[in-house]
Amino acid sequence: MAGFKRFYEVMNIKPDIYDKEDAVELDNIKGKVEFKDVSFRYNDRNTVLENINLKVAAGESVAIVGPSGVGKTTLCSLIPRFYDVDDGSIYIDDINIKDIKLKSLRQNIGIVQQDVFLFAGTIRENIAYGKLNATEEEIIKAAKAANAHDFIMELEDGYDTYIGERELSYQAVKSREYQ
Ligand SMILES: Nc1ncnc2c1ncn2[C@@H]1O[C@H](COP(=O)(O)OP(=O)(O)OP(=O)(O)O)[C@@H](O)[C@H]1O
Ligand SMILES: [Mg+2]
Repeated sequence: MAGFKRFYEVMNIKPDIYDKEDAVELDNIKGKVEFKDVSFRYNDRNTVLENINLKVAAGESVAIVGPSGVGKTTLCSLIPRFYDVDDGSIYIDDINIKDIKLKSLRQNIGIVQQDVFLFAGTIRENIAYGKLNATEEEIIKAAKAANAHDFIMELEDGYDTYIGERELSYQAVKSREYQ
């Protein structure tokens, strides 16, 4: 009950960042990203980003490199609007991200975490948790894109293989063999 109460409290917090009334959907996104004079600080004391100008063309790959604490993660987390910029603007395909529906914006951004986390459940469920209504075809397409399909098919239960915490190390060893 204590856990449930805390969960309920967290779920009832009104987020600071929400849709504008006339926010638009992103359709047919190409993926051009542009920062114009972006400045950001978490609090009054420390300015993390100051007048950042950056253009990334659609399809272009960019690595953000720099010493620890310089603001790389911060810069990236401004794109899905985990935080809002203090000054300047960020554009995707020339649309200011503040004019895009949050759900639509975030649906179009993929984030790969540094450390891998598998939920207790089947391989199918672990792939589909990012898109709960994903079709079987989409799940297989995602697995193929991640170079995991062949290895999954070799498992006795294929996509229905249950991955719990104990199987995790086994999976890790297996996937290393495939790299
Ligand atoms: N949630 C937060 N609240 C307040 N300050 C933060 C927060 N997150 C990061 N910072 C501060 O903002 C600055 C930039 O941090 P950030 O995590 O973006 O750096 P980074 O370049 O990604 O570092 P690393 O290479 O260690 O991942 C640091 O001074 C950090 O202490
Ligand atoms: Mg970081």
